[in-house]
Amino acid sequence: MDHFTYRNGILHAEDVPVPAIAEAVGTPFYCYSTATLTRHYTVLEEAFSALSPLFCFAVKANSNQAVLRTLGQLGAGADCVSGGEVRRAILAGIPAERIVFSSVGKTVPELEYAVQENILQFNVESLAELHMLSDTATRLGKTARIALRINPAIDADKDVGTHAKISTGKKIHKFGIAFEKAEEAYALAANLPGLKITGISVHIGSQFTSLEPFRWAFPRIIELTTRLKQNGLPIDSIDLGGGLGIPYHEESPPQPDIYAAMIREFVEPLNCRLILEPGRVIAGNAGILITSVILTKHTGEREFVIVDAAMNDLMRPSLYDAYHEIIPVTAATNPEDTRLLDIAGAVCETGDVFARGRLLPPMQAGDLLAFRSTGAYGAVMAGNYNTRLLIPEVMVHGNAFAIVRKRQTYDTLIGMDEQPPWLA
Ligand SMILES: Cc1ncc(COP(=O)(O)O)c(C=O)c1O
Repeated sequence: MDHFTYRNGILHAEDVPVPAIAEAVGTPFYCYSTATLTRHYTVLEEAFSALSPLFCFAVKANSNQAVLRTLGQLGAGADCVSGGEVRRAILAGIPAERIVFSSVGKTVPELEYAVQENILQFNVESLAELHMLSDTATRLGKTARIALRINPAIDADKDVGTHAKISTGKKIHKFGIAFEKAEEAYALAANLPGLKITGISVHIGSQFTSLEPFRWAFPRIIELTTRLKQNGLPIDSIDLGGGLGIPYHEESPPQPDIYAAMIREFVEPLNCRLILEPGRVIAGNAGILITSVILTKHTGEREFVIVDAAMNDLMRPSLYDAYHEIIPVTAATNPEDTRLLDIAGAVCETGDVFARGRLLPPMQAGDLLAFRSTGAYGAVMAGNYNTRLLIPEVMVHGNAFAIVRKRQTYDTLIGMDEQPPWLA
């Protein structure tokens, strides 16, 4: 459930009419709903009440500091995948003792920073990283708490029911320590200075709409954890990552209580603290992207609506063929008067098409459209391709709204270029 609904035919974000935000901020922009973020977090918390996990929100899904602060105030921690994300989480008020750091290639400066900040846990993804972290922590006179991220080694040809580009738990993937190397890696970790083993972690991918991939991967990790504990390793926490999908279109992913019941069945016998890293399920449906129609054109074959958002603002459709529901901000007055439209951005790429053949009312320049379910993996993936400016992000809270990231300016963007001395 989200808080983007029509009232008297006008799309509202909570109690704010979307056209009023567009008027104040200009288009395109992302708009996040505090009530929806809060609801999604609370639903998860309630579903997992028997286990009281630490929910480390996957910052990669939405790293806006207002989003992080909202979730942090509800008790969330942060799962970060770069030194920049750790900085953002800390600046947004999430305490270091609730921060985990995953990433297949943490650099020495990133490790140094996170060690100095004394974060809860490093999810270490290779033997090389164990050495790097041990050296770094020892040099700084600190101890780094670690979990090893284990790749459960799903067969490459097994259909895990999500897009190949967001699946992470197969033998062919770069993520985690190979399942067969886990015990060797823990033995190494136990003997390296500056490290304290505290847990184990796994994350098999994103946008799973069935429990089957979890049911396949988690028992392997649980069985490994039991064995490691029996061998005397101090595994006090188990981090089962994120990955629960959301309904973008016709999917019906498992409800959080069903997901929680499955995890409880696996985790309870272990007597470990549970950590989860949900991203999309919290932020995905808590955001919309608002765009204006620039013009319409008929190619002879297709009827195009060219909008002022483009693939650089929302990459998911061109990157993963992702589906986003697209609705008019002013509801159609005559539902019979609809037509099949292709919605595209202005970027000079054939792939800059958001959707094909969507049934929408006739569009004209200036009309507003909303792309639903863009609160996760939306703004965070935006770039400046075609020298387009990063677009603003707005947060709504009841009948109030605020810009939580300003629109970039040409001065900031173009001003980053420098001329070499021989051209100056
Ligand atoms: C290590 C890690 N944890 C958590 C997540 C969040 O996944 P999701 O947004 O599907 O919950 C991701 C995203 O793929 C990830 O790479």
